[in-house]
Amino acid sequence: PPEEYLFKHRGCYFAAKLVTPEGIDLLEEFEIRDSDVFLATYPKSGTVWTQNILSLIFYEGHRNGTEDIVIMDRVPWLECNVKNLDLANLPSPRLFFTHLPYYLVPRGLRNRRGKVIYVARNPKDVMVSYFHFSKFMLALETIPDLNTLMERFLSGKVVYSSWLDHIRGWYTHREDFNILFLTFEEMKKDLRSAVLKICNFLGKHLSEKELDSVVEQATFENMKRDPRANYEFLPDTLVEKSKGQFLRKGTVGDWKKIMTVAQSERFDMALKEKMKDLPFNCLWDS
Ligand code: PPS
Repeated sequence: PPEEYLFKHRGCYFAAKLVTPEGIDLLEEFEIRDSDVFLATYPKSGTVWTQNILSLIFYEGHRNGTEDIVIMDRVPWLECNVKNLDLANLPSPRLFFTHLPYYLVPRGLRNRRGKVIYVARNPKDVMVSYFHFSKFMLALETIPDLNTLMERFLSGKVVYSSWLDHIRGWYTHREDFNILFLTFEEMKKDLRSAVLKICNFLGKHLSEKELDSVVEQATFENMKRDPRANYEFLPDTLVEKSKGQFLRKGTVGDWKKIMTVAQSERFDMALKEKMKDLPFNCLWDS
């Protein structure tokens, strides 16, 4: 039953096997430094990809790239500290990622301390990615079929609740944050420009050669090959590796291969109209 896997806290669903209500509440007072960088995403929107880009920009792309440190240590998960790092005392500049809705992040971040990069992705691709993900991520309930998942996805009964509320919340409260919005689709179309945008936003200057190196190492193929980037480091207690991988396909429009026309129409009806006032039409082009 979903209840075994999900709990609702302050208006948002969380994975019961990964976080606690108390843990979420404590984050409100987590002290933010001006130099902090947060990557914020709804799950399956390009988190691992951007996590790796940040890691490369700050640590490796323009060095020798040989340091054997996985991205989860470079860019830890704020609300589910898998590696048990002492997050409060990490040296600056600290990098984090989070899937939290805007209103549950540390107060300092909402007062324009630190910087936030928000990455959004076509919600059909997000849902399809999640469908495959739920088969091997043991902390999540395996969803038997796409219709079941779609009903839950559209009603927001999935981890981190409604996709639309997530993106709308972050976007409409953008003035509260130092925030850059990016899409998975634009990263896919022109990774170099996206990396440059991130560098400019963070005030990081990379030479052409350094930039090339980051872009090269952040391609799907190269990340898949790189044990520091491809999430091989997750323990068997969390993932059933024979059933799938974090870096699955990494394409735009994969939903077309699995969603029926009826499903796609139902999805459009439930979401597209409600997106009209947000500048994210580009997410629907694919
Ligand atoms: S999670 O569980 O929320 O952290 O998942 P997340 O990383 O947000 O999303 C996983 C999808 O991102 C794809 N991915 C990439 N696509 C293109 N290029 C690169 N380098 C890349 N890295 C990860 C990954 O394959 C998942 O999408 P799908 O559609 O399932 O392949």
